[in-house]
Amino acid sequence: MQNNKGIFITIDGIDGCGKSTQTRKLAANLRERSLQKPGGVEQRKIVLTKEPGGTKAGNVFRDLLISSEYDLDPLTELLIYCADRREHQNKIVIPETDRENIVICDRFLMSTYAYQIFGRNLDGEMLGYLTARTINRMPDLSIIIDVDVDTAIARARKRLERDFRMHQEGKFEQMPLEFFERVRKGFLWYAENHKDTVIIDGNRPFNDVHKDIMQQLDRIL
Ligand SMILES: Nc1ncnc2c1ncn2[C@@H]1O[C@H](COP(=O)(O)OP(=O)(O)OP(=O)(O)O)[C@@H](O)[C@H]1O
Ligand SMILES: [Mg+2]
Repeated sequence: MQNNKGIFITIDGIDGCGKSTQTRKLAANLRERSLQKPGGVEQRKIVLTKEPGGTKAGNVFRDLLISSEYDLDPLTELLIYCADRREHQNKIVIPETDRENIVICDRFLMSTYAYQIFGRNLDGEMLGYLTARTINRMPDLSIIIDVDVDTAIARARKRLERDFRMHQEGKFEQMPLEFFERVRKGFLWYAENHKDTVIIDGNRPFNDVHKDIMQQLDRIL
């Protein structure tokens, strides 16, 4: 761990792999533990947050990034992701971990490598440069939920259609499968080349995935 303050956990993976489901389950499980063990490590506040978004300005950035309305150039997109992350670090991740709380974040830097560098073919060195200058607190644990591309996209599309949100949020879900194959490779590349990163098989029932996530967490708590 980088310092003794708080814990920062991130969950990444392609659209529909189960990030939102699993971050919610994780937060609920840790909150329940804290009720059972007053005064213990788990007594810290559990902060569930996301990127892009998670701050007031971040919600504006998120709308720009995930809506299909704006037709943003890929480099513009990358710069907004970095701006969003900077804002999120300063307003949420750093203050909450400084208070020794547990921050659980739905998507982080790994997604930017996967989508913008591997998916959109932008310059990885530029992202490295921007990261070094905008991120002060890296995760203590980064989890990738790895799922077959066709399963994940089918899940994501179904969810968006069910919620009538395809128009506002469906930008990536409408990309060809080949794009997601590159994105998935990007996640696997990141895991191979960065410490504190684990891959969990997400092609299984919700509770099996959750159990593996809890096991990883118990290693660092
Ligand atoms: N292990 C699982 N087995 C079957 N269905 C699942 C599983 N995990 C999640 N789902 C379903 O797949 C859909 C997408 O899940 P979820 O919203 O958690 O994914 P996500 O990774 O957050 O997607 P996005 O990147 O689009 O936000 C939901 O309808 C969810 O109920
Ligand atoms: Mg989600």
